[in-house]
Amino acid sequence: MKKIIVGVLGAGRIGQVHVQAMHRTARVEIKAVADTYMNDSMAKKLSQYGIKNITRNPKDIFDDEEIQAIFICSSTETHSEFSLQGIRAKKHIFCEKPVDMELDKIKEVRKALKKSPIVYQVGFNRRFDHNFIAARKAIHSNKIGTLRMLRITSRDPAPPTLSYIKESGGLFMDMMIHDFDMARFQTGSEVEGLHAIAAVLVDKEIGKLGDVDTAIVSFQCKNGTIGVIENCRQASYGYDQRLEALGDKGSLCIGNDTESRLEISSNSGVLTEKPLPFFLERYKEAYILEQKHFFDAIVKKKPAPCGIEDGLESVRLAYAAKLSLKEGRPVSMSEIQ
Ligand SMILES: NC(=O)c1ccc[n+]([C@@H]2O[C@H](COP(=O)([O-])OP(=O)(O)OC[C@H]3O[C@@H](n4cnc5c(N)ncnc54)[C@H](O)[C@@H]3O)[C@@H](O)[C@H]2O)c1
Repeated sequence: MKKIIVGVLGAGRIGQVHVQAMHRTARVEIKAVADTYMNDSMAKKLSQYGIKNITRNPKDIFDDEEIQAIFICSSTETHSEFSLQGIRAKKHIFCEKPVDMELDKIKEVRKALKKSPIVYQVGFNRRFDHNFIAARKAIHSNKIGTLRMLRITSRDPAPPTLSYIKESGGLFMDMMIHDFDMARFQTGSEVEGLHAIAAVLVDKEIGKLGDVDTAIVSFQCKNGTIGVIENCRQASYGYDQRLEALGDKGSLCIGNDTESRLEISSNSGVLTEKPLPFFLERYKEAYILEQKHFFDAIVKKKPAPCGIEDGLESVRLAYAAKLSLKEGRPVSMSEIQ
């Protein structure tokens, strides 16, 4: 089998995750990794994967005609410009979320893609988590009947650094964006409107940066389903990722994954494991599966399972939530350009 030759842009947290996951598949050769701030520790981690070109210059990747696909894993502000460069260079693109924080820039990418045969996938990894796939299958095969309510719980173990928060675009754009996508994925419907409430309850410094660390968004879908998303930047017991759905014939729920199924019973109670520590552990297999779908789409010349429209819609929802919080009122999606 001929290998797909790949270049990776950005060798930070998620860049390393993708390199590691790709290294496990025989169908890919990672030819180059570019990071403008490549340092010894990054290069050392990458050196174990037999990558030919470890560079500080992204141009090395775009100019290399042998490279067929790129992974955009660099900081968010680079995503749309790298996407446009990749489309011009006729490379298939896997772009981490969000495609951009500005809707106009995402639309520019969408426009460029209309004239291009490349595969473009956005990194909504949770769509590839075995639990959330099972929930979607059950909902869409009518196991709980007509969906009435959806509840998505998403809490991080601890807030990121303040410098990360400063550049993140805020909780709705950085964190809840995954849950907005999950709401669309599970319901199979677009959101009609939403209402956000939020507070600074974890760290006052986050508030001083103009952000919130705890939030609830209630939403209504075009198909009638109503739902709630709740986020907190801190859960003392680990990475809390759950979902519950109610239909007219029943309900379903997805709990947290744990390291093992160990259960210790004693006269003081029953003790089970905490949730896995964070996204790197909980979604380890999901990152591999999302890549598989991307490479399958390239080989089979079919669209990616999660594309630019999904990238755009999730950012529109983040804007709606920001507006709702700012003005203290429900917002209709028709208000967001
Ligand atoms: N899907 C997920 O689960 C997930 C998880 C984490 C991060 N992300 C997304 O991935 C992106 C990166 O996040 P991260 O946590 O890895 O951040 P990070 O800061 O750890 O890594 C980003 C890297 O990009 C590099 N970089 C910046 N500008 C560059 C440029 N012009 N060319 C090449 N490299 C450049 C930086 O030097 C840094 O090493 C963000 O957009 C984030 O939203 C997605």
